[in-house]
Amino acid sequence: MQQKVIRELLESEPSLHPVSISGWVRAFRSNRFIALNDGSTIRNLQCVVDYEKFEESLLHKVTIGAAIGVTGTLVASQGQGQAVEIQVSKLEVLGEANPEELKLTILSPKRHSLETLREQAHLRVRTNTFGAVMRLRSKLAFAIHDYFQKNGFYYMHTPIITGSDAEGAGEMFRVTTLDAKNPPLHPNGTVNYSEDFFGKESNLTVSGQLEAETYAMGLGKVYTFGPTFRAENSNTSRHLAEFWMIEPEVAFNDLDDNMDLAEDFIKYVVKYAIDFCEDDLEFLEKRLQEEEKSKPQNERSEMTLREKLMFVLDNNFVRVSYTEAIEILKNSNHNKKKKFKYLIDDWGADLQSEHERYLVEKHFKRPVILFDYPAKIKAFYMRLNEDGNTVRAMDILFPGIGEIVGGSQREERYEVLKAKMKTMGIPEEELYWYLDLRKFGTCVHSGFGLGFERLVQFVTGMGNIRDVIPYPRTPGNAEF
Ligand code: 4AD
Ligand code: MG
Repeated sequence: MQQKVIRELLESEPSLHPVSISGWVRAFRSNRFIALNDGSTIRNLQCVVDYEKFEESLLHKVTIGAAIGVTGTLVASQGQGQAVEIQVSKLEVLGEANPEELKLTILSPKRHSLETLREQAHLRVRTNTFGAVMRLRSKLAFAIHDYFQKNGFYYMHTPIITGSDAEGAGEMFRVTTLDAKNPPLHPNGTVNYSEDFFGKESNLTVSGQLEAETYAMGLGKVYTFGPTFRAENSNTSRHLAEFWMIEPEVAFNDLDDNMDLAEDFIKYVVKYAIDFCEDDLEFLEKRLQEEEKSKPQNERSEMTLREKLMFVLDNNFVRVSYTEAIEILKNSNHNKKKKFKYLIDDWGADLQSEHERYLVEKHFKRPVILFDYPAKIKAFYMRLNEDGNTVRAMDILFPGIGEIVGGSQREERYEVLKAKMKTMGIPEEELYWYLDLRKFGTCVHSGFGLGFERLVQFVTGMGNIRDVIPYPRTPGNAEF
């Protein structure tokens, strides 16, 4: 007999043909109604057992969390809450879950905080919240590939172990096979990495951008979608040490084309979630509403989760230069009343997330694309503007999230790039291959990076980035 999943059954018509289904028990009421979930949907299937037909010892093992298999017929439901249910003829307990031990886990029926759920990350996917988040995460990943594949991009795999620092920020995790207690040393006492596995210092990648640029200069339009690693000691609700990034790179695109691409792309994937994840979004919307109730009135969101998503689809992102943004911030009442932790007084300051959120949530009330940042606060590879002070950078800022995308038009002029690397202390020997691109058929090109978890946060309404990735890696935590 063909095994079906609950999502399919709930959409089927009643039938006399027996069906088999397996899943985990969510509840067992009155020794008669089993609520079964198999992960295929947030909805449970009601399985009705006639307890007189089954051994008491067997029914005893049907406890919350247990894995069971049932066979029966799909009938129209007598009760409320579901159109169909299974009239069980055969019941098998596949894996028991001792109720005494279960009480100590997050699978017990009482409500648990997200923090508690994080401590049992191996079990949390069996909760409604994490089931919904992870199904959405999977759908969003697919939507991303779908968008690029439909638009003529090639998916390229950039290396995870690299010898270069793509962002030039020095936030890398070293990769080594040297004996930490007794590494080979140079006569001056420093570690001799020429004896290391790769014959040089190497690290986990912080971004696939530089390699993506090389491929864009041959394939035209490429994108990467892979794990990236940052050894920054940021303990915030928006930072992970290991996160997934989507990085498209396009030959002959300038910064305006780059902004158009980013906006179109984000709208596509958000629309995909609205269209294909209705049940999960409905659940997450209610969850968020509950959560908001614990906040003071003035901090509560005026929009529901799906209204926020629709809002992104229905509105153009506002495009503002860094210089204009600084003026807005400087003259804001918020700044004058010293409500920012970091007050804005001069052009050139890096924007903190409080400023980004002010622009998006209070001032424009729309997603914002900030561009033309001061060269000093941005990476070495961004194209210098004619003013000599600003670069063709763009950050996309989202409500509740702050920066969701960082990108730029790349410096394609050999001499300018070389000089820039020199002043910023980026070693030329390490990036000779990157400079080569500017020697042989250089051209205008642009790209950006979207933090996948920040996107998932936005779409699911989850407040903490640790709750949108299966196994979060953060400073002091690499459990599981
Ligand atoms: O702004 P970032 O550092 O840009 C780059 O890495 C460029 N090389 C991208 C490119 O142009 N191809 O990072 C891009 C995005 C950020 O906007 C943010 O969404 C996300 O990656 N991000 C993080 N997400 C989670 N945890 C962290 N520690 C993150 N750091 C960046
Ligand atoms: Mg950035």
